[in-house]
Amino acid sequence: MLGKINSAGLIGLDGYIVEVEIDISPGLPAFDIVGLPDTAVKESKERVRAAIRNSGFEFPVKRITANLAPANTKKEGPSYDLPIALAILSATGQIPIEDLDKYVFLGELSLDGKIKPIKGVLPMAISAFKSGMEKLVISIENAKEAAVVKGIEVLPCSNVLDIVNHLNGDNPIQPYFVDIDSLFKSNCKYDIDFADVKGQENIKRALEVSAAGAHNCLMIGSPGSGKTMMARRLPTILPDMTFDEALEVTKIHSIAGVLPPKTSLITTRPFRSPHHTVSAVSLVGGGRIPKPGEISLAHFGVLFLDELTEFQKVALEVMRQPLEDGMVTISRINASLSYPSRFMLISSMNPCKCGFLLDPAKNCTCTPSQVQQYISKISGPLLDRFDIHMEVSPVKYRELDSGISTDSSAVIRDRVNNARKIQLDRYKGMKIFFNSQLQPSQISMFCKLGEREKNILRDAFERMGLSARAHNRILKVARTIADLEGSENIQMPHIAEAIQYRSLDRKFWNT
Ligand SMILES: Nc1ncnc2c1ncn2[C@@H]1O[C@H](COP(=O)(O)OP(=O)(O)O)[C@@H](O)[C@H]1O
Ligand SMILES: [Mg+2]
Ligand SMILES: [Zn+2]
Repeated sequence: MLGKINSAGLIGLDGYIVEVEIDISPGLPAFDIVGLPDTAVKESKERVRAAIRNSGFEFPVKRITANLAPANTKKEGPSYDLPIALAILSATGQIPIEDLDKYVFLGELSLDGKIKPIKGVLPMAISAFKSGMEKLVISIENAKEAAVVKGIEVLPCSNVLDIVNHLNGDNPIQPYFVDIDSLFKSNCKYDIDFADVKGQENIKRALEVSAAGAHNCLMIGSPGSGKTMMARRLPTILPDMTFDEALEVTKIHSIAGVLPPKTSLITTRPFRSPHHTVSAVSLVGGGRIPKPGEISLAHFGVLFLDELTEFQKVALEVMRQPLEDGMVTISRINASLSYPSRFMLISSMNPCKCGFLLDPAKNCTCTPSQVQQYISKISGPLLDRFDIHMEVSPVKYRELDSGISTDSSAVIRDRVNNARKIQLDRYKGMKIFFNSQLQPSQISMFCKLGEREKNILRDAFERMGLSARAHNRILKVARTIADLEGSENIQMPHIAEAIQYRSLDRKFWNT
C-alpha cells in the first residue's frame, strides 16, 4: 500500500517541495524514515503514531517506510509530522485520495493530534505556489503568514480530525485571507519619533545624512548623552519598505522563528540591537540547524552595536565580509547556503575608558596612551566601514526644558527619500543604489570637486592630520550632503560638513 503527500522544506531562504511517500507492507511492525532526516524528523514517528490513534484512526501494525524526497537534501525540524500522518492515512484508505496532489501540508503534531505552528512558513508557501499547488493546509497560528502569498488557498486547521472532515467533504474549512494593501498601509508605523529627542541638532543631521546615503555611522560620547535613544530612531527616517522588501524581511524572521505572533508581514524596517556578549554564530548566522543571525535579521534595516569596544573581537571580525558583500555564506558539510544581510550599521562607543574625554562638565582620568589603547580595540578595517563619526555631548538642561519643536521623523524621511531618488536615478543600471556603495573609480566620476573645494579638503588634511582612507569617505558623504540639497555639484559647505564627520581621524586620538 502506497501513500503520497506534498510538503515543503527549506534551503537557506528558499522553500522547495518535499514529497512524503509511505509504503506499508506486511511483516514485523516497524516504522522507518529515510531521506536524510535529522533527529527532530526521526522523532516524528512517536508523535505521528500517537496523533493518529488519539484522533480516532487506525495506526497500521505493519512494516512502514516513509521516504522524504528528494533524498539528497537534509530534512530538518518537526514540520513533516502532519504530511507523514496523512500519507499513512492515505495509504491505509482512511482518507480520500482525489485532489490530494493539489495540496501541501505543513505542521508539527502534538500527541493528541493538534497541529502546531512551525518556522519558515512564508518561503515554503511561496514555493508551494510556484510549484503549481492549489491548497496549503497549515496550523491556525501560521495562517496569517501563509496568506500573504496570493494564488494559493490557505486552509487553517487545528487538528487532524478537522483535515479528514475537510477532505471527506463533511465539514470544509474556510480559506484564510489577508488584505495586504490595507495591512501595509496601517502597519507602516513606528511608535518612536525623532521629535522626542531634544536638542542634538547636529547629531540628528548626521543621522539624516547617514540615512540619505546609507552611510554607516559611529557615535562617540559619554554615557547618558542619548546615543542609544537616537540610534533607535534611525529606522523611522529610512524610506518606507516596499512590498518585496517586506516579503524578504518576513521570510528571514520566519525562518529564524522570531516572527512576532499574529504577524502576516513585517512592514517596518528592522532594528536589531544584539548585546555585546553575542556569539559570532548568533551575530552572523549558522549553527547545527542553520539559522539567520542578527546581521540577516537586520536586512533592509538597522543593526545597532551599542558599546562597540565591548564586543568580542572574533564576532566583529566575522561580520566584516558580510558587511562588504551584503550577504553571508554559511558552509555546511555537503552544501553551503547564504542569507542576505544588507543593513545600515550604527554603533556607539565611549571616547575613552572612563567615558568622559569629550564631556565638557566632567574630567577624563585617562592618560593619552590609555585613550589610544582604548580606541585601538577596534580594528582599523572595521573602523574603515564607518563613513561618519560623530562626537555626542550630553544635551544641555536648557535644551531639554525648552519647548522648541524640531523636525519629526516624517519630515526628515521626506528629505531622505528625495536624496535617495536622486541617487537611484544617477546610478541606474550600475548595480549600486547609494553613495556609500561608490567604488574608487566611481568616486572620481561622481564626486568631482572645483578648485575651491579641493583647497578646503587639502587644508583639512594638513590641519587635522587626516588619514588617506578618510579622503574617499569624505567625498562620498559630501556627495550625499549635496544630494540632500538637490545640488548637482559638491560645493564648499558640503565638503566642509563632510570633513566634520571624521572625528576619529583627528590627531587628537592619533597622537
Ligand atoms: N536629547 C535628549 N532628549 C530627550 N531625552 C534625552 C536626550 N538625551 C538623553 N535623554 C534621556 O536620557 C536617557 C539615556 O540616554 P541614552 O540614549 O541611553 O544615552 P547613551 O546611550 O548615550 O548612554 C534616554 O533614555 C532619554 O530618556
Ligand atoms: Mg547607550
Ligand atoms: Zn577618559
